[in-house]
Amino acid sequence: MKLKKRLGILTSGGDCPGLNAVIRAVVNHAILTYDWEVLGIPYATKGLLERKAIPLSLHGLDLRGIDPLLNMGGTILGSINKGDTLNQIDEIIASYHDLKLDALIGIGGDGSLAILNKLQAMGNWQFIAIPKTIDNDVALTDRVIGFDTAVNTIVDSLNRLTFTAASHDRIMIVEVMGRSAGHLALHAGIAGGADAILIPEIPYSIQGICKHLTELRDRGRRFAIIVVAEGVKIADDSSLYASCQNPSCGMGQYIADEIRNCSHNELDIRVSVLGHIQRGGIPTALDRLVATAFGKAAVDLIAAGESGKMVAWRNGQVEAVSLDAVLAESPLHVAKNHYLVETARAMGIYIGNKES
Ligand code: F6P
Repeated sequence: MKLKKRLGILTSGGDCPGLNAVIRAVVNHAILTYDWEVLGIPYATKGLLERKAIPLSLHGLDLRGIDPLLNMGGTILGSINKGDTLNQIDEIIASYHDLKLDALIGIGGDGSLAILNKLQAMGNWQFIAIPKTIDNDVALTDRVIGFDTAVNTIVDSLNRLTFTAASHDRIMIVEVMGRSAGHLALHAGIAGGADAILIPEIPYSIQGICKHLTELRDRGRRFAIIVVAEGVKIADDSSLYASCQNPSCGMGQYIADEIRNCSHNELDIRVSVLGHIQRGGIPTALDRLVATAFGKAAVDLIAAGESGKMVAWRNGQVEAVSLDAVLAESPLHVAKNHYLVETARAMGIYIGNKES
């Protein structure tokens, strides 16, 4: 006979720092406050499809119990960010009931949350979403899990590259992730002291970048740091992002080649593609805090009988917002008049064409 409420939890989409911290928070609160049973579903909808569930308890990994999850990157549940799961939609929906789940918490970015939202609506699941993504492109929330750590990782790389760039009078081009959104490049570029930031939302010109580099040289600056978001468009307005998985054909390399052609000076240019380094690592204090607050709030929403909601950080606190409303506005792009775009310009950073 089943006595306790059974709560499932899964992580979906690309991993990021802070996922384990949210798992810990959910397990702690669900068990300590509500005395529920918590089941981890491995590899998101793949685990559901295969009816796999791992009991999660306070007495986790080692003598310190589940607490080491607070500062551990990645996700102990595993994740998938590809696959056509909606082909087997009936099977996945049925598995929620076969596993005897009373509720499910799903942690994902906008792509994963769209799939899970469809499943919960069709399957009549009790479902609460928690937003995570280093891309920061989930709407209606001021914070998502993973973004702060990724920004800090990029800033650390920019700090290192600045020393070597200055020593050799070089132009360092740094390609960062973000898919079709420029939040990562914009935040990290400003915080890391970039001289130019190219983001998908704002058109740029190679002539504009070269003019800026010339002005920097005229002012006595003999090196420069250029942050390029992977989703930036090339000259004919198409994107290299989806078609290129190889660092030597990505957007950073493209910009480097174009700048070499347009400058009168002999420029010494190097390209760094930060890649999945941005997704790994130990979560920052802010990401741990957000993960813990989101995990707690999600469990409370389940206890209150809510469903189809996402926990969101708004006005300095955690609120519940409609998942349908979130998905209608995601992916969230950088507005051309975003205050950080204005801030970058005020700092003399080249950030594309102002008139666009
Ligand atoms: O959405 C997160 C993200 O890291 C993007 O910034 C990046 O373009 C993509 O995932 C990489 O995906 P994968 O891990 O499949 O290479």
